[in-house]
Amino acid sequence: MELIETLQWRYATKKYSSKKVADDKLERIITAINLSASSFGMQPYKILIIENPEVRKKLSAYSSNPQITEASHLLVFAVFDSIKQDTIKRYIELIAKERELPTESLKVFKERALNGLLLKSEDENLIWTTKQAYIALGTGLIAAAAEKVDATPMEGFDAGHFDELLGLKEKGLKSVVLLALGYRDEVNDSNARLKKVRWPKEDFVITIK
Ligand SMILES: Cc1cc2nc3c(=O)[nH]c(=O)nc-3n(C[C@H](O)[C@H](O)[C@H](O)COP(=O)(O)O)c2cc1C
Repeated sequence: MELIETLQWRYATKKYSSKKVADDKLERIITAINLSASSFGMQPYKILIIENPEVRKKLSAYSSNPQITEASHLLVFAVFDSIKQDTIKRYIELIAKERELPTESLKVFKERALNGLLLKSEDENLIWTTKQAYIALGTGLIAAAAEKVDATPMEGFDAGHFDELLGLKEKGLKSVVLLALGYRDEVNDSNARLKKVRWPKEDFVITIK
């Protein structure tokens, strides 16, 4: 399927069938998310794959979205609650290892990262990390559609309670957005038949010539 057709096919699924997403498809969606661009390449977030039905049931008390329990898989995008010197150090070491470079050759990059990221306040950090996680969310949506897997991005949840139930504080993480994955219940999902609504391109695009 062509990309535009694929994007027309996808929609924010409300009602899922009980069909499960196969492991290889899930793996490719996660790989695509992992390949997302991010500022400094830092990927300041982690993806939690919540399979456990009991945990999903507990989480559903803190969201009005039925997809939390009904979808095949629930992904939680959780950002680093702070960028520490050690995070940057470990990232620099990873670049050096992957690209077979001496760590000293990354000195300038390291300085830029330290100056740019360590000076941020907690609020600024959350805004920055969340932006990066949302780019990954977008990649996840497209990757799921390319795999013919339905998906729902979701902000409608109580992040504080999710963090508590998933023990995220102890992991230095904060949940920011969710992605449900599965297969549409075509008959019972009224969203499945809705026409897409988007601003007309004449309004949406401003061309400066
Ligand atoms: C960041 C974000 C948060 C969203 N939160 C929810 C949500 O909590 N529950 C839900 O059913 N849909 C949610 N949506 C889905 C949007 O309502 C949907 O993407 C939008 O109406 C466009 O429709 P389409 O995705 O079907 O083309 C969210 C979408 C995004 C991108």
